[in-house]
Amino acid sequence: SKSPYPSASTVAARTPPYEKLVNNLQQVRRILGPARPLTLAEKILYSHLASPEASLLDGTDNGRNVRGNATLKLKPDRVAMQDASAQMALLQFMSCGLPSTAVPASIHCDHMIVGSRGADVDLPESIKGNKEVFDFLESASKRYGIEFWPPGAGIIHQTVLENYSAPGLMMLGTDSHTPNAGGLGAIAIGVGGADAVDALVDAPWELKAPKILGVRLEGQLSGWASPKDIILKIAGELTVRGGTGFIIEYFGPGVDSLTCTGMATTCNMGAEVGATTSLFPLSPGHIPYLEATHRGSIARAAEKLGKDAGDRNYLTADKGAEYDKVLTIDLSTLEPHINGPFTPDFSTPLSKFSETVSENNWPETFGAGLIGSCTNSSFEDMTRCESLVKQAEAAGLKPKADFFLSPGSEQIRATVSTSGTLDTFTSAGAIVLANACGPCIGQWTRTDDVKKGESNAIFTSYNRNFPGRNDGNRETMNFLASPDLVTAMVYSGRTTFNPLTDTIETPSGTPFKFEPPTGTALPSAGFESGNPEFLPSAPIPDPSSEVAVSPTSSRLALLDPFPPFPTHELSLRVLLRVKGQCTTDTISAAGPWLKYKGHLPNISENTLIGAVNADTGATNQAIDVDGSARTIPELAKRWKAQDQEWLVVADSNYGEGSAREHAALQPRYLGGRVILAKSFARIHETNLKKQGIVPLTFADEGDYDRMKGCDEVETVGLLECLQSGGKGEVQLKVKRDGEEWVVNAKHQLSPDQCGFILAGSALNLLARQGKE
Ligand code: F3S
Repeated sequence: SKSPYPSASTVAARTPPYEKLVNNLQQVRRILGPARPLTLAEKILYSHLASPEASLLDGTDNGRNVRGNATLKLKPDRVAMQDASAQMALLQFMSCGLPSTAVPASIHCDHMIVGSRGADVDLPESIKGNKEVFDFLESASKRYGIEFWPPGAGIIHQTVLENYSAPGLMMLGTDSHTPNAGGLGAIAIGVGGADAVDALVDAPWELKAPKILGVRLEGQLSGWASPKDIILKIAGELTVRGGTGFIIEYFGPGVDSLTCTGMATTCNMGAEVGATTSLFPLSPGHIPYLEATHRGSIARAAEKLGKDAGDRNYLTADKGAEYDKVLTIDLSTLEPHINGPFTPDFSTPLSKFSETVSENNWPETFGAGLIGSCTNSSFEDMTRCESLVKQAEAAGLKPKADFFLSPGSEQIRATVSTSGTLDTFTSAGAIVLANACGPCIGQWTRTDDVKKGESNAIFTSYNRNFPGRNDGNRETMNFLASPDLVTAMVYSGRTTFNPLTDTIETPSGTPFKFEPPTGTALPSAGFESGNPEFLPSAPIPDPSSEVAVSPTSSRLALLDPFPPFPTHELSLRVLLRVKGQCTTDTISAAGPWLKYKGHLPNISENTLIGAVNADTGATNQAIDVDGSARTIPELAKRWKAQDQEWLVVADSNYGEGSAREHAALQPRYLGGRVILAKSFARIHETNLKKQGIVPLTFADEGDYDRMKGCDEVETVGLLECLQSGGKGEVQLKVKRDGEEWVVNAKHQLSPDQCGFILAGSALNLLARQGKE
């Protein structure tokens, strides 16, 4: 039977390898110059380098300009995956043929669970609808020794905070809000599945050394201001792109007054400004949180580490550390903010919100308030909201909008159930949803009468508010705020309500005004463990466990290794010449296709369907040799069946957007060998090479105009270039209607990447090395 709390040995296994990391830090200091002060992010990141010297000295002016220049080859301590992205990550991992993961890993079933009528109804329905995917994830977890958190156990980031995050840890997570773990002092980065596989197979994971944005916190929060407001305000200042290429590192005297879960909320939403991650230094809020989550030994180890090395310790920034940019926020004067609609950087201080509603003609009433999610479902959040609900109930008020609560984890749900907090919410009419993502990721079937396409407003304590994100209605305006504010506003039902200044009329006709919320940071007796069925499996590999993938499944398919590079040059044909922007979404569309994420043949039916054919001007059209017009995936499949490998000719910045690995896997699966573009988005270029596709750029961009769909293309010098680790010229001999000419191509192939391409893919190479 499973023990409700982690045993001493489990906690020991989840403790970052402090001794090793501190030794690594000493080595890093020797390389960069012992006197040079380092930021906390630098200390943790650089102490996780596979080979500090190679990463820190290459192309960095002898270590002086690491940030923004060095390519870091990192060895993270652990990996966490959510159910939607874990599918392809696991399928790729499996194709390496390794018996277990190289680092500890966990899987969390949270994204595929609906939120609609309440946990009791929604959870069993979601399990039924996604059974084959959950069965696959569970059986593969068992086989490879991955901790499997079943549907209903909690949302990945809350579970990670409660169990795995720790000061000084470095982890990767296959979800963009992985930085939530930075609230407990970890460097936690959101990545695609193929990156997670790097860590799972013990290959170094590459990251361009981020710049560091320091946020200095002064003063102390009080009244209605909450940690969420720190990041809502920052989002307004930085915009959705302002954090790109940066790690946000918090420091300053204001940090000491924050609770651990408050810091996690602040880090969580750093994803909304595009930051690589966010983190806090070891601070007083961390210790009681580690104790309450039954990890006292980690608290003591971290405290000792903090004390031993004084102000040069591993868990805080060095005195005098320099940031590339600094923002200062005074918590004492911070106002609650409301961000949205449709973008998280449209930030309005509460005092100006009513005015902004009128100026923009936004609806004056709203239909639903949703609290909880991975961003805001801590014990502190819940008890603060409870204090408001109690005030309103005592005044005889009832919510005027639908009220939903998504607990972040079973620990939270069980603890607030024991404390009576949950009863306060349900007596007030709130619907308690499953411990899962639900309405935050579009899994919300609304039962009120808002029609698709109808403009309306909702308030949430979530983190994202792009159109259609919650209920699939692109006209639903999602305003992001602290859970306290959402709760208070639910009792008014009006978007223009300001609980700090306005009153609500009670049934007896007297005006009621809220007192500021009050809460408790942590449950006095520690967290409850809750329903034992939601505890994770043990991280012990069981080679006898059969991985459940039905050969007739439409949602899952095992991956066959891609064929290696031939022993001769390539004879290809141009599938199409793409005109203009071609993002990863153009190459592999999302929406309804997401359910095929674990089935490469099925999801490949969407390959390049958003691309514009430069020869015809039509979207999703490719012309076959006989002149017939087909969809792009149709022609690719046809050529694959005829053993005709192909290339795509593309414009500038091919593959911009996200790290979506399907955008590289799908063309490869359909027989793509080369992408010839004016330029590439950096992450996608790397992804292509990992899947065995050669990204080439035009030496002369004018050649783009000369090429056309169906052109025959022979590579010249490519094989030799790959065999020599990236040296030598590559040319393409192009033939059309008896005419023949040469296109000079450029490439950026490292010796490692040449190895991937020759083997057929990075995974093929790893699998081969594993067997040797
Ligand atoms: Fe889930 Fe929404 Fe968080 S989708 S992981 S609750 S951002």
